[in-house]
Amino acid sequence: MEPTETALSPDPALFDTVVNLCKRRGFVFPSAEIYGGIRSTYDYGPLGALMLRNVREAWWRSMVQERDDVVPIDAAVLTNPKVWEASGHLAAFTDPLVDCRNCKERWRADQIGDECPNCGSKDLTEARPFNLMFKTFVGPVSDSAAAAYLRPETAQGMFVNFLNVLQTTRKRPPFGIAQTGRAFRNEITPGNFVFRTREFEMMEMEYFVPPADSPRWHEYWCNERLDWYRRYGIAESMLRLRPHEADELSHYSSGTSDVEFLFPWGWGELEGIANRTDFDLRAHSEHSGVKLEYFDQATNEHYMPHVIEPAAGTTRAMMAFLLAAYDEDVVAGEQRTVLRLHPRIAPYQVAVLPLSKKDTLTPMAKEILHSLQRRYVCEYDETQAIGRRYRRQDEIGTPLCVTVDFDSLEDHAVTLRDRDSTQQVRVPVAELAGLIAARLDE
Ligand code: GAP
Repeated sequence: MEPTETALSPDPALFDTVVNLCKRRGFVFPSAEIYGGIRSTYDYGPLGALMLRNVREAWWRSMVQERDDVVPIDAAVLTNPKVWEASGHLAAFTDPLVDCRNCKERWRADQIGDECPNCGSKDLTEARPFNLMFKTFVGPVSDSAAAAYLRPETAQGMFVNFLNVLQTTRKRPPFGIAQTGRAFRNEITPGNFVFRTREFEMMEMEYFVPPADSPRWHEYWCNERLDWYRRYGIAESMLRLRPHEADELSHYSSGTSDVEFLFPWGWGELEGIANRTDFDLRAHSEHSGVKLEYFDQATNEHYMPHVIEPAAGTTRAMMAFLLAAYDEDVVAGEQRTVLRLHPRIAPYQVAVLPLSKKDTLTPMAKEILHSLQRRYVCEYDETQAIGRRYRRQDEIGTPLCVTVDFDSLEDHAVTLRDRDSTQQVRVPVAELAGLIAARLDE
């Protein structure tokens, strides 16, 4: 699979624009800002929390709900440290660290040339491996016997539960186990907003297959995952699939392809689709003494399945969706900012806007709001001129606005406004739910 060529180029100014919008409109805040924050750690505000949940649910829908060969689990963040010994993370989950002897900054050796990006000095130490796992202690004793680690990936929770899932479901290879959740990595140089943070959310699926079928399934999952980003609104030209060079591969992988997105600074990884072979099941079998195998009744043989793993970042995907959706256009001679988010990804699907704050409109507007809230996440906004309220909704990506005016009380009709075309149509309240479903449901 060759990377797709593109005529597009990165857009550095877009980065600041979108980061500012995220802060101004309540998508993402620097964490604990009143205390000066903590480097590269973020809190997701009202809109960010909604959007993150939508990204996760869109993944869940296509990876779990719409399939009959994938089951979910929700494993612990803190687990037995032997898991990380067996998985190779204690020994090999490292990045090469260098110190600048002049300004004392620390860098990832593979991300800089031969001089310090901060002061320009070439007086750098030799690179040495730095383990990215966060260590902590379980219980009231801080000695090595009580050491534990925050998970750096959700994947291991699925490998160690392989037999539990086999025994409690009717699944047999090819089948997958999926989960979403927080992961923690003590990144040497976090940055680029939520692109690389020390705490982030992942969406991972381990797909167990007969060993001989693994190349075919690897290709299948590469295509599926690329399609998912397209389905939720990222243009083809901003996506590509890039196979890893041999020297880039993780310690567990025999082959990985990344889905990459054209970030404002250039191409960057959104998701890795790895062929993990039987690396993890074999390692956990050896370390635990429990054979993690499947018994194939057809051939009367035990075998260790190979694993294809699509592993995506929820927080990183959210950033890509925001960057891809950002647009500015001119409507009726006035410049507007619009997030052209897919309706399933947008924080709110519908905004209900009574034309005036007057009590006479409130009961009808609230009744419409409450009936729509059963199916959609809705915003209710009754202050400011209606034009400004439309602009506010455009800027946060709300696909539809429903305006209740004084005529509505007489004709039982409302105005339905479309974010992308800005077209407004008058529709009977009785037909509203059907029209909204036609526009919003896939
Ligand atoms: N289990 C495989 C695995 O962990 P990975 O490529 O290291 O693979 C998967 O991580 C995805 O998680 C990445 O493609 C990226 O989207 C996201 N990710 C990884 N490290 C991250 C970080 N420090 N901050 C935000 N997202 C990160």
